[in-house]
Amino acid sequence: MINPSMVPTLDPNPLPAPYWVFKLLLLVTFFLHMLAMNFMMGGAFMAIAARFSSNGSEYRNRIFVDVAKKIPTLLAATITLGIAPLLFVQVIYGQYFYTSSILIAWPWFFVIILLIAAYYGFYFVAYKGKRRPGAAGFVLLASLALVLFIGFIYSNNVTLMQVPSHWAAKYFANPSGWNLNLSEPTLIPRYLHFVTAAIAVGGILLVLLALARWKHDRDYARHLFQFGGKAFMYATMAQFLVGMWFLVSLPRDLRMLFMGDNTPATVLFSAGLLGTVAAIFLMSDALRKDNIRVAAYGVTALTAFIILTMVIMRDILRDAYLEPYFHPHQFPVQTQWAVFPLFLVLFLGGVALWLIMLKRYGLFTSTKPTDI
Ligand code: HEM
Repeated sequence: MINPSMVPTLDPNPLPAPYWVFKLLLLVTFFLHMLAMNFMMGGAFMAIAARFSSNGSEYRNRIFVDVAKKIPTLLAATITLGIAPLLFVQVIYGQYFYTSSILIAWPWFFVIILLIAAYYGFYFVAYKGKRRPGAAGFVLLASLALVLFIGFIYSNNVTLMQVPSHWAAKYFANPSGWNLNLSEPTLIPRYLHFVTAAIAVGGILLVLLALARWKHDRDYARHLFQFGGKAFMYATMAQFLVGMWFLVSLPRDLRMLFMGDNTPATVLFSAGLLGTVAAIFLMSDALRKDNIRVAAYGVTALTAFIILTMVIMRDILRDAYLEPYFHPHQFPVQTQWAVFPLFLVLFLGGVALWLIMLKRYGLFTSTKPTDI
């Protein structure tokens, strides 16, 4: 452990609401960010898989065009739902998050540039995918590579923020800001854990699209269901290996949090594992019995639950890393009762607006074959 004075001093401005409110909001909004990110990144994976495995198959080309059209909206959702946890993480963990962001300043700054370039690519594919599938396939691949890199930069930042003992060496080795956190042993398995999850959720996106087409366009919907359902199953099976790699890469005392040392962490870990096994079996059964409803409602709900358990586990892990330095009870709190209810009403109103927008936009409503 380093001298705690290496950590910038706590902001003397009091929190405008109790600590737990910010923690809850961070968890809720980060969960929503993860859902949107998984659909966006996983959708891009699925569209590319369909495009490059098409061999002239009409259905695979349709999947490519159909999914590619949704990606710009899903990217917008990822960004909007990323801003909220960005604010809350700064309120609670500012001393750590700002420091790591400065240490990796240049890659961190490049997130914006990479994002804009990826956006252009996704729009190109959404508009030109049908007429120029050859070029669009490669543009989509390039955009996916860019968002993969953005996720990687995030993983570098959040793994670095939780190890203040590594900051000084990193800074003095290269004070220019051209750093990542590549020497961190958990970085790669942690990052791959996110990417593998995104592929599985991309499979679910296809299952949901299949549900919307089930009545009017059964043959195509069945193809979507089989393609997406199998992708979900195989990615989730692979997740067992990647997840285990992540677990064993953790320092022993932190790993043991999930294996008995911390009751909530152990319960969440067990529930997440059981949920994952159940989701694989449920999807496999639904595929065999051609039961789209079980796959679309049952597996989707189970997967959302698993992601929620992982989001909370990730938070417990961060607080355990920061345990020598981070003492939430030290936050001065001066609840601003005049604006706090207003904030809550606006927050809930914002979430409701999102739901209305999603319904109006018809992300999962049926399109006729000629629409695509
Ligand atoms: C579009 C591409 C994006 C991808 C693929 C992506 C992916 C990710 C991933 C994988 C993590 C978790 C990293 C880890 O725990 O190791 C993460 C965390 C985070 N992302 Fe995103 N992200 C994207 C864009 C954004 C944007 C534009 C924002 C903000 C405007 C944002 C805000 C956040 C925040 C604040 C966290 C950390 C939350 C915390 O530590 O509690 N993300 N992102």
